[in-house]
Amino acid sequence: KILILDFGSQYTQLIARAVREANVFCEIIPYHKPFVSDSSLKGIILSGSPFSVNEEKAPMVDIATLISQLPVLGVCYGAQLTAKLFGGRVDKSNKREYGRAKMNRQTTDALFEGVAEDSQVWMSHSDSITQLPEGFELLATTDSIPVAAFKKSGSETQPLYGLQFHPEVYHSVEGKKIISNFLVNICGCKQDWTPASFVHETVEQLKKQIGDAHVIMALSGGVDSTVAATLISKAIGNRLHGIFVDNGVLRKNEFEQVLDTYKQLDLNVKGIDAKQLFYDKLKGQSDPETKRKIIGGLFIDVFHEESKKVSGVKFLGQGTIYPDVIESVSVHGPSQTIKSHHNVGGLPDIMHLELVEPLRFLFKDEVRKVGRELGIPAEMIDRHPFPGPGLAIRILGDITEEKVKLLQDADHIYIQGLKDAGLYSKVWQAGTILLPVKSVGVMGDERTYEFTVALRAVTSVDGMTADWAHLPYEFLADMSSSIINNVRGINRVVYDISSKPPATIEWE
Ligand code: XMP
Repeated sequence: KILILDFGSQYTQLIARAVREANVFCEIIPYHKPFVSDSSLKGIILSGSPFSVNEEKAPMVDIATLISQLPVLGVCYGAQLTAKLFGGRVDKSNKREYGRAKMNRQTTDALFEGVAEDSQVWMSHSDSITQLPEGFELLATTDSIPVAAFKKSGSETQPLYGLQFHPEVYHSVEGKKIISNFLVNICGCKQDWTPASFVHETVEQLKKQIGDAHVIMALSGGVDSTVAATLISKAIGNRLHGIFVDNGVLRKNEFEQVLDTYKQLDLNVKGIDAKQLFYDKLKGQSDPETKRKIIGGLFIDVFHEESKKVSGVKFLGQGTIYPDVIESVSVHGPSQTIKSHHNVGGLPDIMHLELVEPLRFLFKDEVRKVGRELGIPAEMIDRHPFPGPGLAIRILGDITEEKVKLLQDADHIYIQGLKDAGLYSKVWQAGTILLPVKSVGVMGDERTYEFTVALRAVTSVDGMTADWAHLPYEFLADMSSSIINNVRGINRVVYDISSKPPATIEWE
């Protein structure tokens, strides 16, 4: 594997993804965290950073010690730090360099095997390396900077490379190739980390970890929990006890359909219809955070009750994925909680269970690949994200069973419409929001006074930022008439054209 030492760059996760795309496993750790170098570790990548190496509190690592053991690649800040620590010069550039640049490659080093001499790269820096340390070899320049790539090799140390540009970002056209060259040509990695090898190794590990104990797990119908449960089930069969709760705010027919898929996958999952319990507790509650807390709390109660019925349980399965657990270096302090997200955190504490988290090191797209490898139906794998509190946070204001029904029907038409028009996979998330206003309409000779729904569709990479999806007018027109003609109680449809930030994806 490869270790990526994080100096707080916004691009660090992209480096990890590029390494994994080359079928090599890697982990991100904060630059100051000690690590053991065993035989599985093949190389180190130093990330970029918002700091300048000339700042007093600039983060440092002992690169000389690193290269006494392993090949190292420094990216942007990582390269500048290298130059500085070995006696070169790094200065503030007259002008910051952001955006595309053409690399002028000077050599045929193994790092650039198969890469064009004038390959387009992406720059994002305000400092530049103005002088290389003695004994370092210049590999590339650009029209605006004297050092775009360099190398230090020595008989007593492992190779050390530095790149001023960001090979990990999309606009560095051959960046992935350069990273893959580092992994294969320089570090000697075998590109054998594939979905199939992941499944095989994980199932073996799970067997060891769980032994003959039982595992209990909450499933949500989402990709992560389904893939995690399928892996666990492959390891221990029916000693996995899945629980899927109908909290009354799922989408139309979702409870039955999801249970059906679990059955096809041979997962031992029990469906619990707790709708009434949730409706009773939610009655009259209109504050979004209160609704979230009620749903989160009740869910834990129901799950806890059910779990008491299973004996021999020692573990709690969870679909935790890598972005939830990466310890990254935060330069702006801890990020603020904007909405309290409901998840099953809190369960292991009250139940004194150990965690089983087979996806703990995977990014979302890798979870999907593993899911395909496991034969999970595409419909499940390519589902949009859906919030834990479900339609409860898409019904603004208080919740009644009637409103849930209205929203389910409208949402079903919209989502099915997106699928039929081939648009579902083009948006990152879509949903329908029931607004707490009634307005006047006219149908035939009759005056109506009914609810409004808002349609929402966004494009995004990770949900942190999002753009409203520019769906075709004709499609929106179709949806509007289908919903109004088919869902009694709704006489107006609007489309949300707000991006995040400043809006959020959900309305509550
Ligand atoms: P926002 O509305 O914050 O949503 O832009 C970002 C993503 O998070 C989902 N979301 C939630 N997921 N529990 C969840 O499990 C929640 O309480 C919750 N609130 C928002 C939202 O659907 C979007 O994908």
